[in-house]
Amino acid sequence: MPKLSAKSSKLQASPIRKLAPHARAAEARGTRVIYLNIGQPDMPTPPEMIAELHGLSLARLAYAPSEGLPEARAAWSAFFESWGIRFAPDEVLVTNGASEAITFALAIVAGGGGEVLVFEPCYTNYLSFAAQADVTMRPVTLRVEDGYHFGAAERLRERIGPKTRGILLCNPSNPTGTVYTLAELEAVAQVAVEHDLFVICDEVYREFVFGGGEVRSFTRFEDLAQRIILVDSVSKRFNACGVRIGCMATRNREVLDVALRFCQARLSVPTAEQLMVVPMLERGREYSRRLCGEYERRRDAVFQGLGGIDGVSPHLSEGSFYTMTRLPIDSCEDFALFLLRDFSSGGETLSLAPGEGFYVTEGLGVDEVRIAFMYDAETLARAMRILDAAVAAYPGKLVGASLKS
Ligand SMILES: Cc1ncc(COP(=O)(O)O)c(C=O)c1O
Repeated sequence: MPKLSAKSSKLQASPIRKLAPHARAAEARGTRVIYLNIGQPDMPTPPEMIAELHGLSLARLAYAPSEGLPEARAAWSAFFESWGIRFAPDEVLVTNGASEAITFALAIVAGGGGEVLVFEPCYTNYLSFAAQADVTMRPVTLRVEDGYHFGAAERLRERIGPKTRGILLCNPSNPTGTVYTLAELEAVAQVAVEHDLFVICDEVYREFVFGGGEVRSFTRFEDLAQRIILVDSVSKRFNACGVRIGCMATRNREVLDVALRFCQARLSVPTAEQLMVVPMLERGREYSRRLCGEYERRRDAVFQGLGGIDGVSPHLSEGSFYTMTRLPIDSCEDFALFLLRDFSSGGETLSLAPGEGFYVTEGLGVDEVRIAFMYDAETLARAMRILDAAVAAYPGKLVGASLKS
């Protein structure tokens, strides 16, 4: 048999999806599974968006321009303007979700053997995007005890090597719910200038900041304008993951030129989908504001529930719609299997995302899980009671001295 490439082995199976067969088996046994592992919004896509799709009169579905339809580029530009972020339409490239934009950005900044700094735990697909672009992720490890904040510029400086070309940052963060402080953003900006680095800012959760907190886009740093590559998406803010529309925006003409060549090589982004998102991009702020309130209620239910579990000290997620927590468990991967194979409470069990898959560094995150807020607050409160019962029943529960501080 011919051998597969070395690169093939670098692509990890999604840690979020690999428990799916066990979840299906639990359901086949009649157990209801509450899926806390997947960040697929449970609420309906805005009717305005669906109506727009139905109202489109498209006589011929030709390739759209590689850079995106003018209407879609203008709508992204107007959307950014509503946040005080200035990108002209010709500084925006429409992409197949933020996923494609991040993959292009990584390839442009550090492709073919360069390195990019990333905070871990991180969005797990970053690792696969980096593998596709032949980029090495250099992790800056964050701790739950610090609310997954990194604090000072020194944490970044000590990880920079001769091949480091950029910093990839997700704010608010998936998977931790961290919203970086202004001082932290300034630290990133300072290090980027000192070491001549690009900053790839993934702001797909920009709307979701809890407690009325101010959203701080990275684009506020005007002196960083040539270094910033902003990545965005309609997936989460408009409950429209299946639409697959995102974008890359930058003022750096050289980056835009190369990015356009990547766009040309994949030809185009689907036409109808680009058009259906236009009204929401132009007028969707109120919609995502309401969503944020709902996610905050859910966050509170999870935080309260986790706080009631013996041996768990949760951190308060500040944004996005996730939290990560440490459990008093020897291996959360085994625990996630235990939940699906051997446990139920009142006919229900949970599907959890084990923490290991969110780390670049091997061996970290074994006692952590990520929880997504994709059910109403009542269901999430019940889910936390199920988690409490499962932790108590799990044979690998850590007690007393074996618990990590
Ligand atoms: C942090 C982050 N970035 C990017 C993406 C991908 O977004 P899209 O659906 O636009 O490709 C996700 C999806 O979960 C995400 O959580």
